[in-house]
Amino acid sequence: MQNLSLIYARSLNHCIGAAGKLPWHLPADYDFFDQTTRGHAIIMGRRTYEDHNSKLDGRLNLVVSKNPHYETAQGVTVAGSLEAAMNLATESQEVFVIGGVPLLVAAFDKADRVYETRINTTVDGDTFLPEFDFSDFETSTLAHHAIDEQHAFSFDIYLHQRH
Ligand SMILES: NC(=O)c1ccc[n+]([C@@H]2O[C@H](COP(=O)([O-])OP(=O)(O)OC[C@H]3O[C@@H](n4cnc5c(N)ncnc54)[C@H](OP(=O)(O)O)[C@@H]3O)[C@@H](O)[C@H]2O)c1
Repeated sequence: MQNLSLIYARSLNHCIGAAGKLPWHLPADYDFFDQTTRGHAIIMGRRTYEDHNSKLDGRLNLVVSKNPHYETAQGVTVAGSLEAAMNLATESQEVFVIGGVPLLVAAFDKADRVYETRINTTVDGDTFLPEFDFSDFETSTLAHHAIDEQHAFSFDIYLHQRH
């Protein structure tokens, strides 16, 4: 059976983005994202796609836009809605909604799993998630990463699994 998962990183004040980019540079969290989503389908909003503007290798790349003529890099497919993107991903055992806000919010009620990185800082960005209610989920801690030379902030990675 197919699993629908969300994956994102947020600050203590629920910020996920600033000026079209991630507001932090945390290579170990990116590695976690990369390893977790590799081999599966990723669904992203048009602005999230434009943050990197290329195909993420080793996974089915689906970009959601209302513009049917939106042009992407080779190997990236455009869908007109979350549902249309999910219909293109029926072969994938796990489908990840990777942001931004509208898609994460729309997919939350249907999600089987949420991979959430909490970054231990507050950020003055422009893109914020609402506070999700995880009372229907069981939460486990997957990893803790301390501040070091490559990581200006510590962070914790949680898996919320729906009961
Ligand atoms: N921290 C994280 O984990 C994380 C994850 C992802 C993104 N981000 C950051 O968040 C920011 C981008 O997120 P965002 O929320 O501003 O934008 P976004 O969701 O990436 O993109 C918004 C666009 O996606 C399309 N879209 C979204 N939902 C749609 C729907 N239901 N039906 C049709 N089209 C839909 C629309 O494109 P059109 O206008 O083309 O119709 C919409 O304008 C960036 O700063 C990015 O770096 C952070």
